Amino acid sequence: MQRRTLLKGAAALGAALVFSRKAAFASAADSRIDVLLDEPVGTIAPAVYGHFTEMLGAVVYDGIWVGENSKIPNTGGIRKAVVEKLRQIKAPMVRWPGGCFADSYDWKDGIGVAAKRPERAGFWRGEPNTFGTPEFMRFCRLIGAEPYFAANARSLTPLDFDHWIEYCNAPADKSSLGRMRAEDGSREPFNVKYWGVGNEAWGCGGNLTPAEYSEEFRRFTTWTPGYGEPLRFIAVGPGSEDLDWTEQFCLATFGGKRGINPKSVYGWSVHHYTWDLARGRTHDWDAAKGDALQFDVQDWYEVFREGGRMEHIMKSNWDVLGQYDPEHNIKLVVDEYGTWYKPGTEVDPSHTISQQVTLRDALLTAQTLDIFNRHAEKMGMAACAQLINCLNALFLSHEDKFIVTPNFFVFDMYQSHQGATAVRSEFSAPPVSYQRDNHPASFWGLNGSASLNDKTLTLTVVNPHATERREAEIAIRGGAASAVEATVLTNSDIHAHNTFDHPDSVSAVTQKVPTSAGSIRYVFAPASVTKLSVTLP
Ligand code: AHR
Repeated sequence: MQRRTLLKGAAALGAALVFSRKAAFASAADSRIDVLLDEPVGTIAPAVYGHFTEMLGAVVYDGIWVGENSKIPNTGGIRKAVVEKLRQIKAPMVRWPGGCFADSYDWKDGIGVAAKRPERAGFWRGEPNTFGTPEFMRFCRLIGAEPYFAANARSLTPLDFDHWIEYCNAPADKSSLGRMRAEDGSREPFNVKYWGVGNEAWGCGGNLTPAEYSEEFRRFTTWTPGYGEPLRFIAVGPGSEDLDWTEQFCLATFGGKRGINPKSVYGWSVHHYTWDLARGRTHDWDAAKGDALQFDVQDWYEVFREGGRMEHIMKSNWDVLGQYDPEHNIKLVVDEYGTWYKPGTEVDPSHTISQQVTLRDALLTAQTLDIFNRHAEKMGMAACAQLINCLNALFLSHEDKFIVTPNFFVFDMYQSHQGATAVRSEFSAPPVSYQRDNHPASFWGLNGSASLNDKTLTLTVVNPHATERREAEIAIRGGAASAVEATVLTNSDIHAHNTFDHPDSVSAVTQKVPTSAGSIRYVFAPASVTKLSVTLP
């Protein structure tokens, strides 16, 4: 079954590429993509390609941390395979330790001699505290990523927050906490810049009102010493479309005579999960969820409709922030996004909130990253939830077993957008039309994003149609293609995914694409994510 899927997938991709060669000279295109090199949108902050690792289920223990004495290849206790893959995709930033866990976590439990650290009953699971701040920093340094800490603003105080920053950033010879860090292995300060003040304060982070959270935020961030590191604070923003949270927080924090300067806030954290696949029958948190593996074509499309809400969520938050911060100092930090299905497909029962990841999730991830790129000027950071053994994971592992999911290939393909200049792109394609619970429904047919880095144009495109390919004429205004290479992630089975037994059922394939007089014709395979790497003269 798995092998058949693999062969079918390869055939589908091959057909698409062969067809693209013919198409360069023959039939009329049904779609068009215009890339406007002379219309820059903004620089794509590398940290938009960040990740989220919570002390939850098997994300850290089993996924990242295997322990120094493990037979599983590791560097200082950290699974080597994860490090290698994250280096490959140039993972720029990692958020830790939560999530909801963050607001129950005492950072002091996770420092000092590991054997002497306290064991806690834990928020999601028993917490041995073997993996704490020094180990997280080791992980970040091994992969070359910026750390982004989410601090406890529900059950710890601003003084504890100050002290965590002091432990991380103070010189070793100027403070006891700095000395403790040195004893934990790093004389050099960690220089942590990004500090989230709580997590989901409207929910697990305290069930606060926006005005109450505003008070906490002010207390945590006023005159907080950074020890030479300019601190970048991230405030808790809304879940999905809860704009009331944004409006009320802005009013309480920046409004009136006693408002604080928006320049002191780096980011506005926004969370949006794609979980409600019930097509309006219910919005119940459990009942409305779909299944990660058992789905029909309507469920396939529903993920892209639900995930597409991200664009409106971003724009509307940006507009409200702009009323109080017209210069837009505050950037969007979408630090939790991805699909969330019902339990049952996790690779091991101990993996709380974990699920299998199919081609469908890869398209949703690509769609989301394209939205971020199209709004590059608004985006400070983002984090896919979560890195390993969790919701929209890039990796699945259990003990010595480790595989990459289709999402990994999306991050691998999209890495060339990091730090590049996003340029405007316009997509015109026949919409996807289908029966949604016996009612005609439709949505966009092709979408994506483009960015320019020196002489390389990266164009990433999602074709969400489950069965139809799209042939597009691609016009580059202000340039011409001298060479084009396509990397494609697809499969003829929309449920395709990797397993420990069949780790390569879904993977990306790269091939050259012929060009004709500087222009490009390309056939986008059904159910695909494509990256075109275009060399400009
Ligand atoms: O990612 C799982 C959980 O989802 C996080 O802990 C929380 O922030 C969100 O609600």
